[in-house]
Amino acid sequence: GWKMEDVMDEEIEVINNTVAPDDHVICALSGGVDSTVAATLVHKAIGDRLHCVFVDNGLLRYKERERVMETFERDLHLPVTCVDASEQFLSKLKGVVDPEMKRKIIGKEFICIFDAFAHELEQKLGKKPAFLVQGTLYPDVIESCPPPGSGRTHSHTIKSHHNVGGLPKDMKLKLIEPLKLLFKDEVRQLGRILKVPEPFLKRHPFPGPGLAVRVLGDVTEGNALDIVRQVDEIFIQSIKDAGIYDSIWQAFAVFLPVKSVGVQGDQRTHSYVVTLRAVTSQDGMTADWVEEFGAWGEVVEGEIYNTAPDDSSVLSPTPATLLNGSPPCPNQGEPPISTSYSTVYCFENSFLKEVSQKICNNVRGVNRVTLDITSKPPSTIEWE
Ligand code: XMP
Repeated sequence: GWKMEDVMDEEIEVINNTVAPDDHVICALSGGVDSTVAATLVHKAIGDRLHCVFVDNGLLRYKERERVMETFERDLHLPVTCVDASEQFLSKLKGVVDPEMKRKIIGKEFICIFDAFAHELEQKLGKKPAFLVQGTLYPDVIESCPPPGSGRTHSHTIKSHHNVGGLPKDMKLKLIEPLKLLFKDEVRQLGRILKVPEPFLKRHPFPGPGLAVRVLGDVTEGNALDIVRQVDEIFIQSIKDAGIYDSIWQAFAVFLPVKSVGVQGDQRTHSYVVTLRAVTSQDGMTADWVEEFGAWGEVVEGEIYNTAPDDSSVLSPTPATLLNGSPPCPNQGEPPISTSYSTVYCFENSFLKEVSQKICNNVRGVNRVTLDITSKPPSTIEWE
């Protein structure tokens, strides 16, 4: 077995042997686990000769920039420059509806900004940065044969189309990839040792092109981005409150450029439709939609019947027998097996009902909430 402390020490030694004492290193932080853990590790090795950049592309989630910057700065003390490039990205995306075109534009803009960051740094330091840190993981590097000497025997299916990549061309940067022998769960373990906050390590994956693939069509339409942010935040917060965030692979909201008729107060409305998507998955290659938003809920006094959920059924809810403190006896006539219980499930329907009400009551411009009940295949996880 690998001991993560040893892996960390070895990696730090490798980094220190690779990077000369007057070399500088740059890193683009995405806000995800991999780049954050990679940067934190490199920072531990070489200190402030590491220079990170975080780009706000205008396609981030609700308060995301503030939240990740706080983790970078307050929790991890990483030297990070935050570049607000929202307007630059959004003006390039205006009128663009084709999903692959959106990805291309975003990738290109990103390289542009990263390039500018690297050149500015060069000016400041009076020398070119020599290395680039990337959070490449083991499944990204292997095809079917693991690198010799890696001690790895698994083979994994590769997904390559996703990484927003590309390097400043004239920089001739050498790569540092300290995670390239690790799987995702090992990166989390390493992150824990490096004191990356637990909630950060457990964040759902978020695509590089961000909300651009969650606002169908033109991302600059109306206040689509604002709407999808608010809806997403309500959905995710409710999922966290219900204690089921960690058992879901990804959950998010999608903005549909479609309006439907509704009635709010005594007003007829003609407003946007949003959809909610939550899936379970092992690796993102296939996925199932989440059918049960069940979770242990509030403490209620009552009686346990023999079909009541027990500890082994956490997150696989049995039928709604114990809701709202007035359990309909599922086995009519059978005596309760115990006279008190302290936990109930929040059942799917009531959870979704509450989320939907919260969204329509709080997000201006939305009067209809739908739920995506498709698995992958035939759908993909994202809508674009
Ligand atoms: P799909 O939608 O292809 O998604 O079923 C599988 C996983 O990949 C993520 N995804 C992306 N990640 N750039 C990324 O960095 C992308 O363009 C992209 N498209 C999808 C998606 O969120 C899911 O985790």
